[in-house]
This record gives sequence, structure tokens and C-alpha cells, in this order.
Amino acid sequence: MLAKFPRYPLTFGPTPIEHLPRLTKALGGKVEIYAKRDDCNSGLAMGGNKLRKLEYIVPDAIASGADTLVSIGGVQSNHTRQVAATAAKIGMKCLVVQESWVPHDDAVYDRVGNILLTRLMGADTRLVDAGFDIGIRKSWEDALQSVREKGGVPYGIPAGASVHKFGGLGYVGFAEEVRAQEAALGYKFDYIIVCVVTGSTQAGMIVGFKTDGRADRVIGIDASGTLAQTRAQVKDICAKTAKLIELGQEITDADIHINPDYAYPAYGVPSPETNEAMRLAARTEAMITDPVYEGKSMQGMIDLVHKGFFPAGSRVLYAHLGGAPAINGYSYTYRNG
Ligand SMILES: Cc1ncc(COP(=O)(O)O)c(C=O)c1O
Repeated sequence: MLAKFPRYPLTFGPTPIEHLPRLTKALGGKVEIYAKRDDCNSGLAMGGNKLRKLEYIVPDAIASGADTLVSIGGVQSNHTRQVAATAAKIGMKCLVVQESWVPHDDAVYDRVGNILLTRLMGADTRLVDAGFDIGIRKSWEDALQSVREKGGVPYGIPAGASVHKFGGLGYVGFAEEVRAQEAALGYKFDYIIVCVVTGSTQAGMIVGFKTDGRADRVIGIDASGTLAQTRAQVKDICAKTAKLIELGQEITDADIHINPDYAYPAYGVPSPETNEAMRLAARTEAMITDPVYEGKSMQGMIDLVHKGFFPAGSRVLYAHLGGAPAINGYSYTYRNG
């Protein structure tokens, strides 16, 4: 489905699928839990889901004649870290706007983790006061303009690399990769669990799994706390990506499954249940999740197993999308583990 699109390699290749036997047992053993380790997908600054998306965006950035990648996210954004890594790797400059998306106080929040790595890779990080919003922001447009005013040529990448014409392609590739791995393993996964915020990860998967009738088996766990906006963005990216790859089928509302139950109390703020889910994954499988994204999808998966959402015997594939560097910004929360 993707052969006609140029791809600039930023990842190691197909990511491993790992069986999680101790987590499976801790959750009662009726449902087999696996993880697809997109958190281990690259040697670029600790990897993560944005690199899969950026592989299809970089050829366009290079062709545009740009010299600076410009993007936006929160202070502890995984996305801006991965854009900074990509810029360093392809020899471009990088300017990232880091907004105050998270109502979280930790003395070192703006000095460690993602933002530390971003600065280490030479990106210009601009901290601004605006709150959480996954849409197109004025601060990002101002940043693009500031590059132009200095004689540079910016290439804009929106939050999460989502609302970009090629933003959904990377995770269409994820679905193709899973299908090939299933053929080699000799079995299929019944459900895929994915954290959703800016939308193109889940949207790409929905489009990619639509061909074998599994779009609605992609269970999005919302971590934005702004469900209507996230759902609308997923729907829009699904429609545009399906058209772009000439899928030949419409993505319907029934194909888009997003569960809003675990985003509380707010984007970037873990609930006690999120923290317990993170501890369980860490203590059974040494699998590190973060309090912003993957901890919430882990919490969602665990709760859905407990509620009997997955029929006994199901194989559930947890898409681990990265994000662990952000945990450093929560040093006080996890000071005792
Ligand atoms: C670790 C991690 N998980 C999940 C997501 C959500 O992906 P998306 O923004 O494509 O919905 C992000 C980024 O927003 C992320 O950095």
C-alpha cells in the first residue's frame, strides 16, 4: 500500500513483538498479552512513534529545500524530541515551540527528559505559556515566520506529525508489518491497544487494518482528555490517508473505536490507577511506560481485561509507542517507585 511513497529510513526496521507472560499471568491468564515495541524502534534519541511517521515526511522536507524543521508540543514532548533527532540526523536546523500543556509542578520538569535531549541535539527550544491544544497554533506559525525573517527556509511539522498530508502513512506501515509478522508467527492478534492524542498513529492503523476487516479491533485509549477534538482529528486523518493510498474503501464511524475512560484527571497528569498500571508493567516485564501516554493505555488495557471486554483466549497486542524519557519530569511522583 505504501510502495509509491518515498521513505527516508530513521528506524531499525520492523519492531519486535514480545510476549508478556508475567503480565498475562498477573491479569488472570485468560487473555494473552503481547507488546509491539515501537519504543525500541530506532537509535535516534531513544526512538518512538513519531520516527515511523517522520520517515514519510522527511523526503518531502528535503525536496522542499528547507534548512530548518519547525514543530510544536508540550514541554516534555516526545514528538519535538524526535523532530530534533531527525533534524540532527539529516543535517538540518531545528526550532521547536514547547507549550505549557501540562498542569504539573516538578522542580526539574523543564530541564530533564525530552527537553534535555532536545537541547542536547542542538534544537532551539522556545517555551511559551499556551495550554493544551492539538490543533494548529499561532505560536507555531510565528516560529515558522521567525525562521523566514532570518533568511532561513522552514519546514513545518504540526503537533504529533499528525495533521500533515503524509502523517498517517507510517502507521499504515505498522499494520502491514503486523500482518507479515502474524504470517510468520502462525497466529493473529484479536485486538490492538493504542494510545491516542493527536490521532495519526491510530488513524494510520485503522486505515492499515481496514483491508483485512480489523479496523474496529484497533482500540484507541484517549490520553488527551479532549475526546471530541481527538476523534474528529482521527476521522479526518483516516479519510485523507485512505484517499492518499487509494484504499478504495471509506472509513466509517464504526471503524473508529476510542475509549475516553482513562484520560482523567487531565492530559499529562497520571491518576493513581495510571501509576499502578505503570508499576505493574515495570514489575512484571521491566517494561517502562510514561505517565502521559503509555501509562494511560496500559491502564486502559488492564482495566478492559478485568472488565472482560476481551473474550477469553484473545490475543491482545499492546502498541508501545515510546515516551519513557518524560518520566524524568515526574521525579517526585515516582520517588518511592
Ligand atoms: C509515547 C506516545 N504515545 C502515544 C502518543 C499518541 O500518538 P498520536 O499523537 O499519534 O495520537 C504520543 C504522541 O502524542 C506519544 O509520544
